[in-house]
Amino acid sequence: MSQFDQVIDRKKTQSVKWDTLEKNYHQKDLLPMWVADMDFKAPEAVRSAFNSYLEKGVFGYSIVPDSLYDAIISWQKTRHHFAIKKEEILFNSGVVPSLALSVQAYTDPGDAVLIHDPVYPPFAQVVEDNNRKLVRSNLFTDDKFMMDYDNMERLIQEEDVKLFILCNPHNPGGRVWSKKELQDVGNLCRKYHVTVVSDEIHQDIVYQPETFTTFQNADPSFKDFSIVLTAATKTFNLAGIKNSMVFIKDDKLRQAFEKIQKKNHQDDINTFGMIGTQAAYEGGKEWLEELLTYLKENVEITYQFFQSELPNVKVSKPEATYLMWLDFSFYQLTDKQLEKKIINEAKVVLNPGISYGEKGSQHMRINIACPRSTLKEGLQRIAAAFK
Ligand SMILES: Cc1ncc(COP(=O)(O)O)c(C=O)c1O
Repeated sequence: MSQFDQVIDRKKTQSVKWDTLEKNYHQKDLLPMWVADMDFKAPEAVRSAFNSYLEKGVFGYSIVPDSLYDAIISWQKTRHHFAIKKEEILFNSGVVPSLALSVQAYTDPGDAVLIHDPVYPPFAQVVEDNNRKLVRSNLFTDDKFMMDYDNMERLIQEEDVKLFILCNPHNPGGRVWSKKELQDVGNLCRKYHVTVVSDEIHQDIVYQPETFTTFQNADPSFKDFSIVLTAATKTFNLAGIKNSMVFIKDDKLRQAFEKIQKKNHQDDINTFGMIGTQAAYEGGKEWLEELLTYLKENVEITYQFFQSELPNVKVSKPEATYLMWLDFSFYQLTDKQLEKKIINEAKVVLNPGISYGEKGSQHMRINIACPRSTLKEGLQRIAAAFK
């Protein structure tokens, strides 16, 4: 039995995934397979680091220790062959807050910001909330999601795009963009002086034989016009500790980001965030290997289940992330009808595809990062509603 088979009751733990269902849907016994966190315990290394800090019992202001920088630098180097220096690393509470700060740092109100469609919903929200113009370029599906470079180039020119937010690997499509794809999109952005923000929070949840390339490793010149956002929180199931990193090699880009961060007084970070991130990077490697094996099997089970039990729902295996993109278009339901059916009849909560953009219409995103018994229960419920 794997440690990840253990079913943990997350109800009444202030969990967004589990504790908002009754309020939102006025129903009991819904099975949540939506928000992107995992129903697993964090690594022992992290829990014991928290315990030692708790035992001291003093929770005052803290500084960032060199040991945290070392842990991040070493993780990036050994895991992603990415060389980053201490002075190129900034911290922030979350990747989403850093997306918002990037929009403020690198564009002016009214400027156009490009994102893909579909993509993680806060990409659009940070653009619109900051009164910038949202420009979306559809990914196209050719077995898997692909970027439409011609369309991106047309939009960059027509809309005078200043910033492009890339999701690498891609949520919800599970694509690990290849080095060639990153080079193509990077060259395009360089040609038109478009700054790139590469959100790489899913960088560690990648299934062999795929290999992840950080945007700045795709070409040595890309560091001059891009920044990279990442965190240990997605990898090690620590979303609640609120800690993330911003890698900026270019001095001007880093100064601009720091300026906005200071202006908003957002340059202090949570002590638990620091402790969790360092402990995870230092001691979580084996846990992560076991997790990846477990998740890969969950992907396989989910894929096979739809093939055999519900073949009209099209699904492909993600190259990365514990999220799978389900195509329900066969049933010809509106997005509202589809969401209602999943909730009221399947009694499962998934993420409606339409929230990721127009391209997500008639799709749903399922989170398979749960014990196998929970996964099977959820899949059976979906099948029963659609059979
Ligand atoms: C692409 C992407 N970026 C950012 C986040 C969230 O980042 P944070 O919790 O650090 O704000 C998620 C969470 O699902 C995500 O999928």
